[in-house]
Amino acid sequence: MDIQLWRELLEPYELAVEELMVKFNHLMIASRKAGGYAPIEQVHGRVKTISSILEKCQKKGIEFDEFEEKVDDIAGIRIICQFVEDIYKVVEIIRNRTDMRIRSEKDYISNNKESGYRSYHVNVYYTVESLKGPKEIQVEIQIRTLAMNFWAIIEHSLQYKYKENMPVALRERLQTAAEAINVLDEQMASVREEIMDAQNSFNIKANMVSEILTTIQNLYKVANKREVVKIQEEFFRIYNEGDLNELVRFGKELDVIAEGYRAQSLN
Ligand code: GTP
Ligand code: MG
Repeated sequence: MDIQLWRELLEPYELAVEELMVKFNHLMIASRKAGGYAPIEQVHGRVKTISSILEKCQKKGIEFDEFEEKVDDIAGIRIICQFVEDIYKVVEIIRNRTDMRIRSEKDYISNNKESGYRSYHVNVYYTVESLKGPKEIQVEIQIRTLAMNFWAIIEHSLQYKYKENMPVALRERLQTAAEAINVLDEQMASVREEIMDAQNSFNIKANMVSEILTTIQNLYKVANKREVVKIQEEFFRIYNEGDLNELVRFGKELDVIAEGYRAQSLN
């Protein structure tokens, strides 16, 4: 088959990966903006290269006319979480979405692979609107923690290097490393609450500062300049003290002042 035809065949997969990256990134950013903790830390995506599609077909005896059905990871999304608990939150989010339909799930976290590999795989059907109309394709979504990802990336490159012939000693070392990764994830889970608290207050502070600065900027347009300068100085004083509760209190007071000006300008 010529390259041009391959390109056309892969186009819907490219589109699906792009769309899903936007959607999952949006989830991550929206939960951070809402001042909350985001269960998603990073989103990656890729379309399988023609060469690895061919390789997989050859290895598994897949005929050309059935590869779109049988190669289930032509479109791949990888979602990286901070904690194991978050993985199940993300799976739940995927289950509740109306723009994708789950085809199969594999829980390699409860049952890790013999290699030591851990991740949660959700294969879904997803519809893209292409030039030729709607097309439903398969997407493989891999969900794992930062630590699991670290292990999988290293192990994958070694697998690639040795193909089927990885030395036994190396394989065993990787299995030991996988156990260490598991322990690391467990230990991180035990400090999760504390880490989440820290990240939450970081986000609350960032949002608060941004809102206050916007309000002050708007006040310059409607209020007495000397008064706004005083408000601004007060803001910097509170900001430098570093007490989040004080900052929240100041933000509320400022809202009342701004509301007063809005009411005046409406009269
Ligand atoms: P393939 O889809 O052909 O890989 O076989 P499968 O369907 O039996 O595998 P599965 O769906 O369980 O895994 C698919 C993907 O998970 C692979 O393409 C890898 O990205 C990843 N994966 C699975 N096992 C391992 C492993 O032992 N090490 C690493 N690094 N990645 C793995
Ligand atoms: Mg597979």
